[in-house]
Amino acid sequence: MQGMESLHQRLRLVVLVATLGGAACRPSAVPPPQPVVLAPRLVPEPASTTITGGAPFDLARTSNIVVDPGNAEVAAIAEMLAAQIRRPTQFPILVSTTATSPGAIVLRLSGAPASVGDEGYALTVTADSVRLVANRPAGLFHGIQTIRQLLPQDIESEMGSERSTWQIPAQNIVDYPRFVWRGAMLDVARHFFTVREVQQYIDLLALYKMNVLHLHLSDDQGWRIALNSRPQLTALGSVTQVGGGQGGFYTQQDYQNIIRYAAARYILVVPEIDMPSHINAGLIAYPDLGCSARPTGPYSGTDVGWSSLCVDKEATYAFVDDVVREISGITPGPYFHIGGDEVQTLTHDQYVRFVERVQGIVNKYGKKMIGWEEITKARLNPTTIAQQWKSDSATAALASGAKLILSPAPKIYLDMKYTPTTELGLHWAAYVEVRDSYDWDPAAYIRGVGEKDILGVEAPIWSETVRNIGAVMYLALPRMPAVAEVGWTPQANRTWDGFRSRVASHAPRWNYLGMNYYHSPQVPW
Ligand code: ACM
Repeated sequence: MQGMESLHQRLRLVVLVATLGGAACRPSAVPPPQPVVLAPRLVPEPASTTITGGAPFDLARTSNIVVDPGNAEVAAIAEMLAAQIRRPTQFPILVSTTATSPGAIVLRLSGAPASVGDEGYALTVTADSVRLVANRPAGLFHGIQTIRQLLPQDIESEMGSERSTWQIPAQNIVDYPRFVWRGAMLDVARHFFTVREVQQYIDLLALYKMNVLHLHLSDDQGWRIALNSRPQLTALGSVTQVGGGQGGFYTQQDYQNIIRYAAARYILVVPEIDMPSHINAGLIAYPDLGCSARPTGPYSGTDVGWSSLCVDKEATYAFVDDVVREISGITPGPYFHIGGDEVQTLTHDQYVRFVERVQGIVNKYGKKMIGWEEITKARLNPTTIAQQWKSDSATAALASGAKLILSPAPKIYLDMKYTPTTELGLHWAAYVEVRDSYDWDPAAYIRGVGEKDILGVEAPIWSETVRNIGAVMYLALPRMPAVAEVGWTPQANRTWDGFRSRVASHAPRWNYLGMNYYHSPQVPW
């Protein structure tokens, strides 16, 4: 990106020299200097952008952010943008409700076209002002990510920058998402991630207009959320992880902190308790509920499918009821994810009975059920969502009226290695380079599955080999921005060449943000 920056500076110099040179020879014939207009380098690419060619907006020391009075949520969004701008510019940037003055950034919940929906926005940049309008606060939040990406990269710096001008090219953007579900899954069970690490991941998702964080809260290796009704789950079930580290768990206060942090960034947290298999950590606390040939004890390996709840015992459903009730009670969103994948120790009928009964429990506590695609063996309610990872059960899901989340492993399992030499990650599904994650169309991926059947896309990171947030970032960047664009941008606006050149310009932002990334040879850094 230093390359981009120096190109920018060189272009400015060329304009200046051309102008001065011309002025010396033929003063009256020289047109006024035109500002250099760089193509916006946004990820995800907006639905519609018009470069107007007018003079750019120039952020000034006196610029403020103007909001309508009486809306604390909008004021909070404005304050987030103000805080971001203050750090590198060291401009005071006040959030005010007074009339627009020149140099203002205006945020309003009025004047946006209905067509941008709940998450879209319209942005008008002129020499005098930046005007961002949306129908809902989520649209304003996504819009301020666009403003952030339109400003020079050192807007991401925590420290004062030497830069003297902070310009945005004059343009009009009208933007809205293709899909309502643009998710990321983090496996906090195979390795535990602290609240702060999860928040750092949320920061990445927010920058790219993602709106769902699915937390895989339990697996054979660890139970990661404290429940008052079943305290042994964490007392006994959280104490290890893959490779034998100490593991950990979220108190309910920790979980609330994650939810609040995500909600302030318009990201919904979806909790997953994986059952009836992937349940060894739960069975350490309640061995009577077990049905496996393998003895229960702390597990730090990476095999799958061997543990199971005994689905013919009534006590199992009392356990599931406690877990679903308590987690649903502290989760504001409408979803509960029951896992349901990779069961090797139950018969088809046992599995189906379990899923149908658990679906009833989830619905009883006011939540819609989500499960990995194996749940399509059962009779699903139309409100249930089947998350495709192998992509061989979509027809069964659609027959019951269920919608789909697409997480195809060979495309967007971000724990897959990029290439055979990637140190982190697995490769059972594929080697997944950046182009693999980017260059596919969800509506053309599974036979018989069209746009209307798909809620959206979600990129999991399973953490068998992933021990800390630096490792997460290395796997997520640059593939997560690719997934974000698959989920947000109209298919007709997307090209691999466009994406790889735009995403290259984001690397200096990641450096400022301390986010590790993979220097893919597919991207012209
Ligand atoms: C999965 O990858 N087992 C959902």
